[in-house]
Amino acid sequence: MEIKITLNENLKEKIKDESKLGFGNYFTDHMFLMDYTEGKGWHDPRIIPYRPISVDPSCLTFHYGQTVFEGLKAYRSAEDEILLFRPQENFKRMNLSCDRLCIPRFDEKLALEALKKLVDIERDWVPHQSDSSLYIRPFIFADEEFLGVRVSKSYKFMIILSPSGPYYASGLDPVKIYVEEKYVRAVPGGMGEAKTGGNYAVSLIGQAEAESKGYSQVLWLDGVERKYIEEVGAMNIFFVIDDVIITPILNGSILSGITRKSVLELLRKQGAKVEERKISIDELVAAYDDGKLQEVFGTGTAAVISPVGELMYKNKKMVINNNQIGPISQSLYDNLTDIQWGRQPGPTGWSIKV
Ligand code: PLP
Ligand code: COI
Repeated sequence: MEIKITLNENLKEKIKDESKLGFGNYFTDHMFLMDYTEGKGWHDPRIIPYRPISVDPSCLTFHYGQTVFEGLKAYRSAEDEILLFRPQENFKRMNLSCDRLCIPRFDEKLALEALKKLVDIERDWVPHQSDSSLYIRPFIFADEEFLGVRVSKSYKFMIILSPSGPYYASGLDPVKIYVEEKYVRAVPGGMGEAKTGGNYAVSLIGQAEAESKGYSQVLWLDGVERKYIEEVGAMNIFFVIDDVIITPILNGSILSGITRKSVLELLRKQGAKVEERKISIDELVAAYDDGKLQEVFGTGTAAVISPVGELMYKNKKMVINNNQIGPISQSLYDNLTDIQWGRQPGPTGWSIKV
């Protein structure tokens, strides 16, 4: 399928002071759009000027949430090359989310070609500042006009781009995380592993309550026993206990993070002691009480490597590594961002030049 391109004749002014970008506030001049119609499949892939789209008030997504999304980034290297980090992994995961949400699969090669074309057109929008990048948001939503609960017969696949700074206003400074006991995010057999709006909608109340207490995100426990650690609102979680790096095993209710996977690969290559396994909050508290909890950090596209300086569980405040960035978090941050920004070569296929 050929991707049709219509260029925007009214370009916006770029953001001059990149330190003021924040996350997800600005959008570029073009977007990608493709339609799905039952009987016809995915069709009409096109890049068009960025603008609002119109959908009918009965559009199924508004009512029943049949939608998936992804998040990845484009980075500007010192040589002014534009690099994508493992984009194939995002489209692969997006199709897995589609499977769970009964959305028809799309052609991952076509999606990557569309993304490269779109980012190429928008290359001047990729920020120059060291901690900023072009955040990429592919998403699919059901747009059939109908009110019954069933799988939609039509969809839109879109990609929009947002020049962004760090996800947390604090940058690489350690974040404070609230261990949630009242609400749950996902249950076995649910859709926790899919990247779909409902998983974020369900998290908002816990997130809002945590924020009102001065915490930036919530650490979710398993939805049945509220005992085993799952993940944070927008990142996977790692613990360094007694020199072993532990992250919860993928159990179907945790998002299979691409940063998580990359960090595990980097650590194993370095010969670090790494464990993917069930880890309970009680084990974590015991390690803390024994002085064995050395570091905690989150991993995510938006959050990169985010050191955790404080965990609050049942009124117990656990201050980690004196609220300082630990050596493993710092070295992973350096290692990963060096690869993402093209300062160091990464494993084959991680950096895709636009
Ligand atoms: N977990 C959740 C719930 C997320 O939203 C994200 C962000 O995408 C992650 C984990 C980290 O995933 P990734 O490293 O692929 O960005
Ligand atoms: C990401 O890291 O890409 C995310 O999707 C996190 C958040 C903005 C939902």
